[in-house]
Amino acid sequence: MKKNIGPKLGVYPTPVVVVGTYDTTGKPNLATLAWAGVCCSEPPSVQISIRKSRYSHGAIMERKVFSVNVPSSKYLLETDYVGIASGKDVDKFAVTKLTSVPGGTLEVPLVREFPISMECRLTHTLELGSHDLFVGEILACWVAEEALEATGKVNSRKLDLMAFMLSGEYFGIGDFLATSHSVGKKLIEK
Ligand SMILES: Cc1cc2nc3c(=O)[nH]c(=O)nc-3n(C[C@H](O)[C@H](O)[C@H](O)COP(=O)(O)O)c2cc1C
Repeated sequence: MKKNIGPKLGVYPTPVVVVGTYDTTGKPNLATLAWAGVCCSEPPSVQISIRKSRYSHGAIMERKVFSVNVPSSKYLLETDYVGIASGKDVDKFAVTKLTSVPGGTLEVPLVREFPISMECRLTHTLELGSHDLFVGEILACWVAEEALEATGKVNSRKLDLMAFMLSGEYFGIGDFLATSHSVGKKLIEK
């Protein structure tokens, strides 16, 4: 049996990403976002949802570019911190000692220590209510070499990523279960 708990968000889990922007003075900033995800394959695009009150929101509106960095669980403390403090008040790179690396294609700061960083160009903005949804076309995707196979394929097992639960908790990623678009075929073959 299930119980209706009302019109609540029920997408468990969500990703944890850290968005990078430069402010008007050129200071790099970071903000953790859980309202984020993939939204298009061609052109490759991600969506992030941000409240207008965030310092990062203004920076994206101003510069029309941002980076999306995927942290490993090793950087849990830093990831949580950049989701609490505001770039309005502090230099988050200085506090966390994370390293800001300039993007190769766009004027965005990337986080050197995180295993994945994408350079994104703002393509769509949608005012939804509490949050504005930004769609960014991915123009470059940087992946830690140790997680890359010779074929160029990403080895997920080497990424050590985490997920966010709407209960306000971070979880590690669990064990490998099956290969997608494959395990379900057992029901076709029946
Ligand atoms: C786990 C986690 C997830 C968050 N997800 C979002 C989100 O999806 N959208 C948002 O606007 N703020 C989100 N926040 C809050 C911002 O990261 C936070 O307000 C941050 O201080 C904004 O930084 P800024 O003012 O420098 O942009 C999240 C915070 C945490 C810790």
